[in-house]
Amino acid sequence: MLNKEDNDLLTRVEGDAPMGVLMRRYWMPVLMSEDVVSDGAPRRIKILGGKYVVFRDSEGKVGVLDEACPHRGASLALARNENCALQCLYHGWRVDRTGKVVETPSEPADSTFKDKIRHIGYPVREAGGLIWAYFGDPKFEPEFPAFEWTDRRPEQIYTIRVAQRCNWAQAIEGAIDAAHANFLHNDLMRRLAEGGDYTGGGGLQNLTLVDGAPTLEIQNLPYGFQYAAVRNAVSDGKPMQYVRTTQFVAPNWALFSAPEGWAFNQVFVPIDDENTVFYFIHAREGDEIIDEPYRAKILEWSGVGDLDDDFHMDFHSGNMWRQDRDLMDRKKHGDHFSFSGMTGNQTEDLGVQESMGPIEDRTREHLGTSDLAVIRMRRLMLDAARRNTRGETPLALGGGFLYGEIRPGEDLIEPGVRWQETVGSRGEVPATTRTV
Ligand code: FES
Ligand SMILES: [Fe+2]
Repeated sequence: MLNKEDNDLLTRVEGDAPMGVLMRRYWMPVLMSEDVVSDGAPRRIKILGGKYVVFRDSEGKVGVLDEACPHRGASLALARNENCALQCLYHGWRVDRTGKVVETPSEPADSTFKDKIRHIGYPVREAGGLIWAYFGDPKFEPEFPAFEWTDRRPEQIYTIRVAQRCNWAQAIEGAIDAAHANFLHNDLMRRLAEGGDYTGGGGLQNLTLVDGAPTLEIQNLPYGFQYAAVRNAVSDGKPMQYVRTTQFVAPNWALFSAPEGWAFNQVFVPIDDENTVFYFIHAREGDEIIDEPYRAKILEWSGVGDLDDDFHMDFHSGNMWRQDRDLMDRKKHGDHFSFSGMTGNQTEDLGVQESMGPIEDRTREHLGTSDLAVIRMRRLMLDAARRNTRGETPLALGGGFLYGEIRPGEDLIEPGVRWQETVGSRGEVPATTRTV
């Protein structure tokens, strides 16, 4: 539970809201590389309430600019994209990817007016199949978050993306909430328990159903925290514990344990106070690629279907998130009933998260022991926003870790063994799932 003041501080990101000011201090994914082609249509995006245009110029380089033309504000998303610049339709001004006004053809030929104007262009990177931008104060531009997958080849990465009609915080709260897997994702967990999967096997996630009330243990780290969900299990007649760790990386990343050779990372990018774009990055190591059959399976398990230009599915409160009550009927469907009636892992998350309203009223919650990671995330991010307002260094921006070494993991251990010594501590254990 949060009081109203803290709920607003946690969730509001537009304009001068402290959480938005904090979020602009980190590199943010803004689109996927494939969304813009050289001299092709610019894309209009909204991030943290700001309106921007993204385009790939004639040299293949990407620019992220304020959407409004520096002349009189027409949208540069309507612009022509040619000769290494966007040309505004209204009076023909041309702006390059860095924000430099390179031509003002509606001014006299000898005018030097353009040299006095600079449009706002933002630092841009392309890595891991994503376009990233930094919207904060140039003097605080942070190190690029080089996660273990950001230097992989395009064929080694497959990213599911979908827009959510809800605030960023309640979206990421779903990603650091171990207990919901047993209920909301019951269909998926039963498929895993029966030997189904979409990664070619491996991993222990098929054990999730052994215990619907995992104990959460949390460890703060320089970039956020990791938590272990500890479930009681039995192996060869002996009591064991299934431990699965998840990493929260400030401000908006969740890294999950994946089968050996895979990485699963999720990021929740705030569009404005009431909308978020979710990216689920699947990446493979070494020489392995994610070929078409894998891509099709990942997409099928996610449940994500056709998207509109703003990455929304036709799946919202107006159609009850397409919940199928017939599929939920145990008597009718026996073991093949659907617990949620929503087909797919990401659609289930989307449905319940949107059903909480655009911004959940956290003054009315009743948090239990299964919510400890959610509580910790809120506390750390509220603290980070307040620190940033005071001019102190916020979470994950003070160094002391390498993004590429942040590894979740899982293991089956004997009671009494400390998970921190087997799967837990950053840097001590490789990324991979340990087999028992
Ligand atoms: S508004 Fe863009 S050139 Fe005039
Ligand atoms: Fe989920």
